[in-house]
Amino acid sequence: MDALAAIGARRSNGRLVEPAPDGDDLEAILSAGALAPDHGELRPFRFHVLRGPRMARFGEVLAGAYVARCLTEGTDPVPAKSEKERTKLGRAPLVVVVSAVRTESPKVPWIEQQQAAAAACQNILLAATALGYGSMWRTGEPVYDDTVKAALGLRPDDAIAGFLYLGTVPDDSAMAKPPRLPDLTGLVHEWNP
Ligand SMILES: Cc1cc2nc3c(=O)[nH]c(=O)nc-3n(C[C@H](O)[C@H](O)[C@H](O)COP(=O)(O)O)c2cc1C
Repeated sequence: MDALAAIGARRSNGRLVEPAPDGDDLEAILSAGALAPDHGELRPFRFHVLRGPRMARFGEVLAGAYVARCLTEGTDPVPAKSEKERTKLGRAPLVVVVSAVRTESPKVPWIEQQQAAAAACQNILLAATALGYGSMWRTGEPVYDDTVKAALGLRPDDAIAGFLYLGTVPDDSAMAKPPRLPDLTGLVHEWNP
């Protein structure tokens, strides 16, 4: 699939099943992430792969972080929300957490390091699409949670750009989405002062 076809075909799929990308396919997908534009070539992106039993263990981290946030805010944790945090990674057989590791640089502001990680996310989604996999980029409160960052070996100053869910769109899926039609209405302006 060429680049424009992959851009046109990519949709967020909320429920993905096996097979997940593995072996050469996973390497190609993560390599696409690492080829993202990166001001100063600081290589700020990190890719943490969650799968199998360790995905379930990371679900425990997410649930614990949710409860800790509630306690910090002085609210009672809602058991259903805690359970959702514990199980939500199971919406795909593989999740890649993309983060940006902060480097103090006189030339490359932190925001640009985070933008490089976001570009890596999009490269990963497009590479997965080109190889025939479904995907979805998710964030939510866990990406801003220092406990979650610490579980990935990140510092509070680092940033999680996204949880990228990867797998196969089920054949019978009512969730399989058609391509979006491009719509440039209101987006393009010929600058003419
Ligand atoms: C930075 C970022 C964070 C996102 N976080 C979520 C999320 O937490 N939950 C969610 O349902 N979708 C999330 N999305 C996916 C968007 O909702 C989705 O891309 C949008 O609805 C357009 O649909 P499409 O991806 O099928 O074209 C996120 C997308 C981006 C770029």
